[in-house]
Amino acid sequence: MTTSTNGKFDRRPLIAGNWKMNLDHVQGITFLQKLAWTLDDAGHDHSRVEVSVFPPFTDLRGVQTLVKGDDLSVVFGGQDLSPKDSGAYTGDISGQFLSRLGCTYVLVGHSERRTIHQETDEVLNEKVHAAYRHSLVPVLCVGEGLEVRQAGAHVEHTLEQVRRGVAGLDRAQAADLVIAYEPVWAIGTGEVAGPDDAQEMCAAIRAELGTLFDTETGAKVRLLYGGSVKAASAASILRERDVDGVLVGGASLDVSEFASIVRFEQHLGTD
Ligand code: PGA
Repeated sequence: MTTSTNGKFDRRPLIAGNWKMNLDHVQGITFLQKLAWTLDDAGHDHSRVEVSVFPPFTDLRGVQTLVKGDDLSVVFGGQDLSPKDSGAYTGDISGQFLSRLGCTYVLVGHSERRTIHQETDEVLNEKVHAAYRHSLVPVLCVGEGLEVRQAGAHVEHTLEQVRRGVAGLDRAQAADLVIAYEPVWAIGTGEVAGPDDAQEMCAAIRAELGTLFDTETGAKVRLLYGGSVKAASAASILRERDVDGVLVGGASLDVSEFASIVRFEQHLGTD
């Protein structure tokens, strides 16, 4: 992991934990404290591998206070944001508020938002722009459902989500972006796409970004895989050339499992 022949290791790996609607504000703090201790005890080097958690909105103030107070190297983000900045949008959360709470990232277009809340690529593109307006890095989630995969149309389907999601971004914004490829059929199902599947899609996304912006920009964007990632499967996926991190749901709610994923470098070459 020390040489860089293809640019992969110039991109700092990102291990992201999506808590979804789990862990209330008290549980969230306890959990994050334990995670930080576990990583410290294991001697985790945050400068090598970045760790971000995505708690529910109601946890964010407590998470911010803990991270600041204890000087933790973990960063955090929101699970969604409004495309608007303020106003009469009951129940929505502005990117401005997330930014004030110290969020680094914000998820945009998680498949549960696309499906349950019928969020379209157009709305998600507005959310991506809203994130940049407030200095948040969007983690744009894309990926195909089972039928699309079975029809062999997964690459084109996912690239279309990418094209629509990044429309109107300039090169500097695009270079900062994080894109998470999460095949819907693999989320919370125990089905993990193979390392080859993750690599195939991430390479296609990177090439598409190279075409939309330029090759240098495409080479800077961090691409994550998500969908039933566990400690046992993380290293083999993260070894792939175009995969720069993982977005973890279920396994991010277990301290030792998630800490083990964060420390995937230890398992490289052994799994
Ligand atoms: P999972 O969720 O790891 O539980 O499959 C991933 C996600 O939805 O981001």
